[in-house]
Amino acid sequence: MSIKDIEKKIKKEMLKKVERKRLKIEKDKDLFETVEEVFDSRTVMALYSLINKDIIDSMRGVVKAGKESRVYWAKGKNGEDLAVKIFLTSSMEFKKSMLQYIHGDPRFKVGKDYRKIVYTWAQKEYRNLSEAKSAGVPVPTPICAYQNILVMEFIGIDGVPAPLLKDLRHLDKELYQQILTAIKKLYSDAGLVHADLSEYNIMVNEGKAYLIDFGQAVSKDHPMSWEFLRRDIVNILRFFKKSGFNVPEEEAVLEWLKK
Ligand SMILES: Nc1ncnc2c1ncn2[C@@H]1O[C@H](COP(=O)(O)OP(=O)(O)OP(=O)(O)O)[C@@H](O)[C@H]1O
Ligand SMILES: [Mg+2]
Repeated sequence: MSIKDIEKKIKKEMLKKVERKRLKIEKDKDLFETVEEVFDSRTVMALYSLINKDIIDSMRGVVKAGKESRVYWAKGKNGEDLAVKIFLTSSMEFKKSMLQYIHGDPRFKVGKDYRKIVYTWAQKEYRNLSEAKSAGVPVPTPICAYQNILVMEFIGIDGVPAPLLKDLRHLDKELYQQILTAIKKLYSDAGLVHADLSEYNIMVNEGKAYLIDFGQAVSKDHPMSWEFLRRDIVNILRFFKKSGFNVPEEEAVLEWLKK
């Protein structure tokens, strides 16, 4: 085969690939129409770009629509379930609250461009998840962060997200221990504090607790990290106490965490 023939073949293959992608996007049209209503064109382009890079194969549906982000169920190229968290680039309230978790964390620097701050936020959540994961903390495995989009492992089955801790019917002491062990590992081994931990940011999949929502997590070096850690602990103790469990004093738990 001559070079020209090879080039022709490659071009043909590429065209086929693009065509396949286009068909897939057509199939997801309804979903993309809703995506297009909510997100600006740059976000939609970023999503297409993740599809073209073979990170996302197809978008399946909305898991949760919040004020600051939306989480979608998607499929990866090997048929695995993915969670795609897209941060809205228009919430000013979000901007104000974000900055206190970015300033003070030596890993990140931001300017004034709001879009860039949101990109940094997605990167920050990705990095926090990666560091937590490497330290053996149970979190969704992060896959990539691109602009304002974070792709990660889907926690749940067939597009149905696992319940949040707050919605569980049956709680046991073992779950409480899993959560405290995760917080300790996060602090001691990953050097991070979640900073927004509560029964709303823990998913429980078949008895296993996963800490989620790491955008605001800060490194130990953040001047407020100890206060954030205290608040996380207070929330978890309050939740289990309210559910009828005997829990230790907050100070005792903090002492144990320091060890
Ligand atoms: N990896 C995941 N797999 C499956 N579902 C997920 C995953 N991550 C998040 N979710 C679902 O999406 C919801 C929102 O995610 P998350 O807590 O990360 O975002 P948030 O910024 O707190 O959003 P909100 O503004 O709605 O509180 C979670 O409560 C959970 O139900
Ligand atoms: Mg949350």
